[in-house]
Amino acid sequence: MKRTILPLLCLLAIFFIPSNAAAQTDYTYKNKSLPIETRVQDLLGRMTLEEKAGQLNQLSGGVLTGPQAANDPGQKDKLVQLRAGKVGSLLNVLGAQQTCAVQKIAVEESRLGIPLLFAYDVIHGYKTIFPIPLAEACTWEPAMAEKAASIAAKEASSAGLHWTFAPMMDLTRDPRWGRVMEGSGEDPLINSVFAAARVRGFQGNFDNQHLLACVKHFGGAYGASEAGKEYNTVDVSRYAFWNTYAPPYKAAVDAGAATLMNGFNIFDGIPSSSNKFLVTDVLKNRWGFKGFLVSDWASFREIITHGQAEDRAEAAMKAILAGSEMDMESRVIIENLPQLVKDGKVPLSMVDAAVSKILYWKFKLGLFDDPYSYCDEKKEAATLMAPAHLDAARDAARKSMVLLKNDNKTLPFSKSAKNVLVAGLFADSQDDALDFWCAQGQAKDVVTYRKGIANLLPKASISYAQGYEANGKTTAKLLADVNKKAGSADVIVAVIGITGKLAGEARSLADLSPAPGQMEMLRTLKATGKPFVVVVHASRPMVLTEVEKLAPAILNAWIGGTRMGDGAADILFGDYNPSAKTVISFPVAVGQIPVYYNAYNTGRPHRDGDEGPDDFWVSRYRDIPGSPLYPFGFGLSYTSFEYGEIAVKSIGTQTEPKYEASISVKNTGNREGEEIVQFYLRDPVASYVRPVKELKAFDKVSLKSGESKTVKFTVDKDMLSYFDENGNKVLEPGKFEFFVGGNSRDVKKAEVRW
Ligand code: GLC
Repeated sequence: MKRTILPLLCLLAIFFIPSNAAAQTDYTYKNKSLPIETRVQDLLGRMTLEEKAGQLNQLSGGVLTGPQAANDPGQKDKLVQLRAGKVGSLLNVLGAQQTCAVQKIAVEESRLGIPLLFAYDVIHGYKTIFPIPLAEACTWEPAMAEKAASIAAKEASSAGLHWTFAPMMDLTRDPRWGRVMEGSGEDPLINSVFAAARVRGFQGNFDNQHLLACVKHFGGAYGASEAGKEYNTVDVSRYAFWNTYAPPYKAAVDAGAATLMNGFNIFDGIPSSSNKFLVTDVLKNRWGFKGFLVSDWASFREIITHGQAEDRAEAAMKAILAGSEMDMESRVIIENLPQLVKDGKVPLSMVDAAVSKILYWKFKLGLFDDPYSYCDEKKEAATLMAPAHLDAARDAARKSMVLLKNDNKTLPFSKSAKNVLVAGLFADSQDDALDFWCAQGQAKDVVTYRKGIANLLPKASISYAQGYEANGKTTAKLLADVNKKAGSADVIVAVIGITGKLAGEARSLADLSPAPGQMEMLRTLKATGKPFVVVVHASRPMVLTEVEKLAPAILNAWIGGTRMGDGAADILFGDYNPSAKTVISFPVAVGQIPVYYNAYNTGRPHRDGDEGPDDFWVSRYRDIPGSPLYPFGFGLSYTSFEYGEIAVKSIGTQTEPKYEASISVKNTGNREGEEIVQFYLRDPVASYVRPVKELKAFDKVSLKSGESKTVKFTVDKDMLSYFDENGNKVLEPGKFEFFVGGNSRDVKKAEVRW
């Protein structure tokens, strides 16, 4: 009896299952009315182990559709993997048309139709290129960086992208390192505020005009690569990690960064990608990071090269067990993870946890509900290089350029100048203008320094003298041309520097002095007796010691992006009063590197000018000064500022110190200007030695000629604390020194005791 009834009942039941339950059961992950978590878990439950490994596999795509790809076996194989559900993300696939065509294959031709994440290095602009991040940080205006990131995201997302590998927050004190341009200099606070600003700017509210940010390269102090040599060994203490290198990453995580990227280097002797301390203990457990990690290019496979894995399977296992997740371009995960799980070497729970986070963000971006919402070619055409974007790039450029010298008010030049000589190859070379990380920015769109001056002075006669060759050498003929044209010039703008082709990854340099031919050109100009300004076009602080001796004025223009020439012209001819301050020290010689303001005192400190009889057995060089040529926080204005004395009042309690430090700042010059008022402190006696100065706050104030303002800083217990080597915050009673000034060297001082 029972045998006949039961099947019958089951059969009948099928006809009475409510239709939406059938729909939900079959397509819960496609039901947009359900919570994302529900959809993630449903989809996860439908995936094979290979498909899960696929979500952790990122390939560099390039052009995947069309005749060019059809004849390329490598490209065809990527589409085979795509259709097999073995790819979760592609980088370097660009443009609304191309990303849409490839997304269609993933969504419509794979078993589960899981959409791809399209990623790209949108570092400082997509097509409209902004100043390099190092230059942007010199504005000390995080809001400006947030706006630049937001514009970059708007352009990149209109081109089909969902995810950028930025901001790079590897604090560094070494201008020999090519990637110094990608960061925000030598100070933890500056790096932290710009990290958060860029994350906010890129991500917005995760609509289809923004991008997932990817803070890199977590977390092992890549910027401390020995000798500034790219991909070199890093060996810093946990104490340095917690106090110097970790804060910017933490600020980015706290700002809600969706993803982070592993670094290439070792930390504590273990590659960042397989470093459980970094990825799990710090990032996930202590900081509560809920997003996901992507490796740097093939950094999972490089665990073998570093010498911490025997083969690809072991490299994959060590990366996953450390807590790392998506594998960029090494393919060790897609090749080995299923077997590692089957062999019990990697818990399935870790794989599911990683895959869930990637699926979460695909749902969060709405890719399951409308995979083609980023594929609007008309919107792309209207968005790229929009006039408002270019205007913003120009404003950012002029706000980022640092006036290092201006003797006898050489600058600003008069806009009524009739004959302007623009000298130097880099003054008019679009080819040398942009850096390696200029995304889809085109050299042909760059306004060079020469063009920018011509734009600003349409009635002036702008002559040009090349001055030196691309190889840095010069010739008698070139110098004669400079000399001749200088004779008839009212004003002279001489551009030197380092080509943008040597700016960025894999571009470390051991010599940061201007090329001999460039110096020959400057000496020729000096001999004419005419006033001239030197504009430095470089992605890192150069050694300007010899230039400083020759040039009446120096404007450090960095690499200012698509509108660099307009930005520089605005400063040179007075339409904009420079306000930028450098966020990285300028060494007097390469041998002085690393030189930075927030150094420890040592047991035998030396201060330039201390040269006395007992000043021999001290921490110094015998052949160069100890101080940098230009210190952290330094930058001139066309006006001048005078500081009063620091007034401090306690607003705290016995158990919780808190102070208000205030100081008056007066514009003593004859034009309006902006001053970046900087607040530093020192804890001169603590259980761990503390830096002689630490930037703890800053305020960029605008003052009219003759105007004074009282600038106030609230000093709280966090500012007075530091981390011990275990990352525990330490606040100790005792004396604290406060400093306020317009740079890290020229400061007023006050003391408190708590
Ligand atoms: C590079 C860089 C990394 C970049 C990635 C993808 O090697 O180290 O910053 O995001 O590869 O281009």
